[in-house]
Amino acid sequence: MNARVVVAGALYDRGRLLAARRSAPPEFAGRWELPGGKLEPGESPEEALVRELREELGVEAEPVERVPGEWPLGPGYVLQVWTARLISGQPSPLEDHDELRWLAAGELDTVDWLPQDRPAVEEVARRLLRD
Ligand code: C5P
Repeated sequence: MNARVVVAGALYDRGRLLAARRSAPPEFAGRWELPGGKLEPGESPEEALVRELREELGVEAEPVERVPGEWPLGPGYVLQVWTARLISGQPSPLEDHDELRWLAAGELDTVDWLPQDRPAVEEVARRLLRD
């Protein structure tokens, strides 16, 4: 059976990446991730990403490109990551998170990332530094 996809957004703006601190469940609370969530039936990853960023952060965002790679989560789930651009709104931690932080490339190690998000963040950092 194919693994179900969880999609996360590497939202960047003026050389900084948005990190979100999880408020739940207890085993993930306090650790940082790229905001996102599970695909709903019939949704493309890009559609799910736009919906999740709207629900979790209250912003409109546009997927830009897929970050190469795919990372195993719990049983039956894999994480895929897209870079994304903010179109409108000011991100706030409406759902699942209790703090947000915009990190410059040199600040990416200042938060305690969930391990499965780390390789994606490293790849995004390479792209941010390149641009
Ligand atoms: O947010 P939601 O509960 O829909 O996320 C689904 C699962 O994917 C959760 O187990 C969550 O911890 C995980 N996830 C992750 N990294 C992300 C986004 C979600 O490991 N960047």
